[in-house]
Amino acid sequence: MTVKKILLVLILTSTQVMAQPPRAVRPMRSPAYPDRPPADPATVERGKALYGVQCNFCHGSDARGGEGGPNLLRSELVLNDQKGELILPVVQNGRGEMPKLNLSAAQVSDIAEFIHSFRVGGYDVSRMTPLSIVVGDAQAGGAVFKTKCASCHSVMGDLKGIASKITDPKILQNTFLMPGGGFSRGRGGVNVPPTTVTVTLASGQKAEGRLVRIDDFMVTLDDAEAGQRTFRRDGDSPKVEIHDPLKPHRDLLPGYTDKEIHDLTSYLVTVK
Ligand code: HEC
Ligand code: HEC
Repeated sequence: MTVKKILLVLILTSTQVMAQPPRAVRPMRSPAYPDRPPADPATVERGKALYGVQCNFCHGSDARGGEGGPNLLRSELVLNDQKGELILPVVQNGRGEMPKLNLSAAQVSDIAEFIHSFRVGGYDVSRMTPLSIVVGDAQAGGAVFKTKCASCHSVMGDLKGIASKITDPKILQNTFLMPGGGFSRGRGGVNVPPTTVTVTLASGQKAEGRLVRIDDFMVTLDDAEAGQRTFRRDGDSPKVEIHDPLKPHRDLLPGYTDKEIHDLTSYLVTVK
């Protein structure tokens, strides 16, 4: 057995011990967070950069959640994860409110190293300075805005003074990444138009209104005049078309590069 292997066995054994029910714990330390071998700093740096763009805005800069995503440091799944193997399917397939994100196994493994690094050496992540997110190039961001946003928005029109309305750059970034997402609801004055649905009956008759609920068997809509109406669904009949005003935003989400997000944020903070 090499020294490395012996160390690994020791670490794995101590992980088992650490995974036992919590002893008297110091405040601010999640109980039962396993100690892990120190990660390669370069890997952690890469993971941190990716996390800052892809996960931060829902799980918080310290992974304690509260921005629409749950606390990852207390997640059973994350606690049991070694090198991203358990986190990977969640990221690649999405889960619940979490959209699937287009990241490779290597990238998720770097992010996992970053999340796991929070507890190594017992230091408390809450003392870390938050990641600054205004690190991009505002001019380049203006160009991205033209190509990706200007078809729907204008900084002289609907987004005029957005940075005066939403003064925290992080919330501003969240707002354009996922307007109407859990974290921005009720903050920063985002007024998201409702998702609507059009139901076309076999007779050709159409009903339209705000989508109340839909499953495989029925669809309920709220028509301003007729009130709530429910239609039974049988396969493709009647025809149901859902119009989600935020779908374009959701579709943009997986396509941004890190640089584009940083540049856009740096641009939008100047729109006062
Ligand atoms: C748009 C918000 C959003 C983004 C972006 C996001 N998450 Fe999530 N994440 C969530 C929500 C909401 C859940 C809870 C899903 C559920 O179980 O319904 C979740 C759940 C998870 C879980 C499972 C936790 C558990 O205990 O089950 C992991 C792991 C996770 N996210 C990791 C990540 C990582 C890593 C990233 C970045 C690559 C990321 N998430 C990006 C919102 C987000
Ligand atoms: C296809 C249309 C479309 C595209 C493209 C689009 N958005 Fe939006 N955006 C919307 C809709 C719809 C809303 C919901 C609120 C509204 O109607 O203003 C919204 C909301 C927002 C908000 C919140 C507005 C507020 O008043 O708080 C911001 C910020 C925003 N978008 C920024 C962007 C940025 C930046 C881009 C480009 C990266 C972009 N959007 C691309 C349609 C779009």
